[in-house]
Amino acid sequence: MGVEGVFRLDGQIALVTGASRGIGKAISMILALAGAKVVLVSRKEALLARLQKDIRSEGGEAYYRVANVAEEESMEGVFRWVEEEFGCLHILVNNAGVSPHYLPFHETAKKDWEKMMAVNLKGVFFGCYMAFPLLRAADGASVVNVSSIGGLVGLPRVAVYTATKGALTIFTKSLAAEWARYRIRVNALCPGFIETDMTSGLSSNEKLKRELLVRVPMERFGKPEEVAYATLFMVSPAASYMTGHCLVVDGGWTAW
Ligand SMILES: NC(=O)c1ccc[n+]([C@@H]2O[C@H](COP(=O)([O-])OP(=O)(O)OC[C@H]3O[C@@H](n4cnc5c(N)ncnc54)[C@H](OP(=O)(O)O)[C@@H]3O)[C@@H](O)[C@H]2O)c1
Repeated sequence: MGVEGVFRLDGQIALVTGASRGIGKAISMILALAGAKVVLVSRKEALLARLQKDIRSEGGEAYYRVANVAEEESMEGVFRWVEEEFGCLHILVNNAGVSPHYLPFHETAKKDWEKMMAVNLKGVFFGCYMAFPLLRAADGASVVNVSSIGGLVGLPRVAVYTATKGALTIFTKSLAAEWARYRIRVNALCPGFIETDMTSGLSSNEKLKRELLVRVPMERFGKPEEVAYATLFMVSPAASYMTGHCLVVDGGWTAW
């Protein structure tokens, strides 16, 4: 297979949720450049159409479906389409996620709790549950759940967000143990602070940014591409014996 070949995904069907922006957008592009046919999923059609165009202009193959990961019927429509179009799914990246505030726990609004539970957890439940027959049909498949360093260590001011990500980390391990017999690997990605819309309120506030970077030995936020290459590794044949793992990409935040 060779050192380069081991990272190729030619002929594989991949689906990425939250593909329109940030980390999901970078993952979609990198998987497409590695040869996968990528189905882009999120709520904003204009952004998905633009990314599809960008991927195609780089010689990749991409399709998009507009859907809300937290809505059952919406996600059923996506997986029905994948089944009709391709008959199987090799790669599922459950990336869509929200973190609507950066506040002390006692100021958490109930609607924020509900939104995070719906998108960050129920959305992943729908993804895994509905994709299962298609992943089995691929005869060798891989799931990546995008968790966070907040799924491994505590982070003040985002307690509810970390509750969803901690649940996702252990959910990933349980599913890995259960699905290995179906030749489906299940891993989690745990990014630290990455420059995206989600963190723009933190990176644009010099005081907050300084407070956060004190925890990062590499003294900077990460870039979406740095997370995307780690995802490529996890779904590629290079990681064929890896399942139930939480891969940390955090500039050293959790190292000390
Ligand atoms: N940025 C970080 O520092 C960081 C660190 C650790 C983990 N993460 C995780 O990485 C993932 C991506 O984060 P990001 O930083 O790239 O966030 P982002 O820039 O805010 O992008 C979020 C993505 O999720 C989609 N999305 C949100 N709600 C959705 C819904 N209900 N249905 C479908 N799609 C939905 C958005 O698309 P539409 O608006 O088009 O629907 C968008 O594509 C999240 O799970 C996040 O928790 C991020």
